[in-house]
Amino acid sequence: QDLLHGVLPGAEVLVLSNREPYIHNRTDHGIVVQRPASGLVSALEPIMRACGGTWVAHGSGSADRETVDANDRIRVPEGAPSYTLRRVWISEAEQDGYYYGFANEGLWPLCHIVFVRPAFRSGDWHMYREINQRFADAVVAEARTEDPVVLVQDYHFALVPKMIRQRLPKATIISFWHIPWPNAETFSICPWRREIIEGMLGSTILGFHTQFHCNNFIECVDRFVESRIDREVQAVSLGGHETRIRAYPISIEWPPSALASVPARETCRAEVFREFDLAEGTKLIVGVERFDYTKGIPDRMRAIDALLTRDSSWEGRLAFVQIAAPTRSKLDTYSRLQAEAESLADAINARHPGRQTPIRLVARHYEASDVLKLFRAADVCVVSSLHDGMNLVAKEFVSSRDDNAGVLVLSSFTGASREMSEALIVNPYDTEELAAAIKRAMSMPLDEQAERMKLMRQQVKENNVYRWAGTMLVDSARSRTRERILALT
Ligand code: G6P
Repeated sequence: QDLLHGVLPGAEVLVLSNREPYIHNRTDHGIVVQRPASGLVSALEPIMRACGGTWVAHGSGSADRETVDANDRIRVPEGAPSYTLRRVWISEAEQDGYYYGFANEGLWPLCHIVFVRPAFRSGDWHMYREINQRFADAVVAEARTEDPVVLVQDYHFALVPKMIRQRLPKATIISFWHIPWPNAETFSICPWRREIIEGMLGSTILGFHTQFHCNNFIECVDRFVESRIDREVQAVSLGGHETRIRAYPISIEWPPSALASVPARETCRAEVFREFDLAEGTKLIVGVERFDYTKGIPDRMRAIDALLTRDSSWEGRLAFVQIAAPTRSKLDTYSRLQAEAESLADAINARHPGRQTPIRLVARHYEASDVLKLFRAADVCVVSSLHDGMNLVAKEFVSSRDDNAGVLVLSSFTGASREMSEALIVNPYDTEELAAAIKRAMSMPLDEQAERMKLMRQQVKENNVYRWAGTMLVDSARSRTRERILALT
């Protein structure tokens, strides 16, 4: 409440995202609540717990309909309700066009430069537009005031800001794009590039993780839309409405609330070593992500393979535990990646049949506290994304290491690498470089680990998710004041 009302007194907050923060599923043991594997959700949830308000999202769980009231609303989190979740329903065919089709086969590979060809089908595009309208209508229906603060999240809703602006012209719309934004030449292949940009320009403020992505976006506006650009203040004016383009590096809650239930390092290590049956003295390398082709999972396995091949003294002395939560598995690119990664792990393990299996690939979802336990137990955490807007795993790893130990190996193609330069920064396409970094991490003296870890912890602590949200809210409060003054003159 303080976070919001200190900056925007009396304002009503609405969040819109595709993924919901709590998913109710029916299982053999009754209805269970799940938290999704989504950087967006883990960043926004603490904000909503602090501010209250309404979060509008797609109801995706098998028991979601049974748990809402007649208005499709439910108070969350269970036990300590602090905000309202309003669920919106989508049929399977709609989900195929809007979510799997345009969002995840079109925009996702368009914005992540990993050389997966985007698919642009007009049927998907029409569905995307229709579903964007449905969510915009739901937000408008939930609004109790004429000038709410609406936080529109991510590439699922590029058209929503303009749709909301048409119905609630006084709304403060802060949109945040959680993935990279490509350069104009790359973006130009999208058949609906103009509509997408115009949709986003319905926002009061449009945020990206890095200045680089802001520059790319402004370049695209310049090329594809008739508008006025003020480069000095990074503002675009279209049809009498102004949008400010800003970099807001997203972050995590500090300390993460899930950390409270995680035992001390020694207990974590003992439990994880037992779980994976690791020999004493093993160097434990970990990776935790969704099973996504942007994350560079096969690349880090190839680096482990190269390391063991070059230096057989490591055989039996290291283990690489990769947790990969299956995601978007309906799409070929995802199911193929999972199959390839699994057979690569088997092949590498067969090549190095030492005292213990080097690669442990676990294709399932881990709850937040289990992830933090794994991080605390680890010697090294590898984040080798081929392209990533920010990457919160890197920040979560650092947050778990209050013992100031452990080494982060981090891809230079993540937003996080701009903020955490004390990590060992690597090019994940360069197998030898990645292998050398992992080897260096395993052998790093404790005092060097502590020096690097302390600086990274300080960075994330200061620039936590409350600062991310707080800065956006302060900027939008300025916009509201500016508009009020302009209306008076
Ligand atoms: C990325 C996106 C989020 C999304 C998450 C999980 O972090 O930026 O918007 O929620 O991936 O993907 P999913 O498709 O399962 O929601």
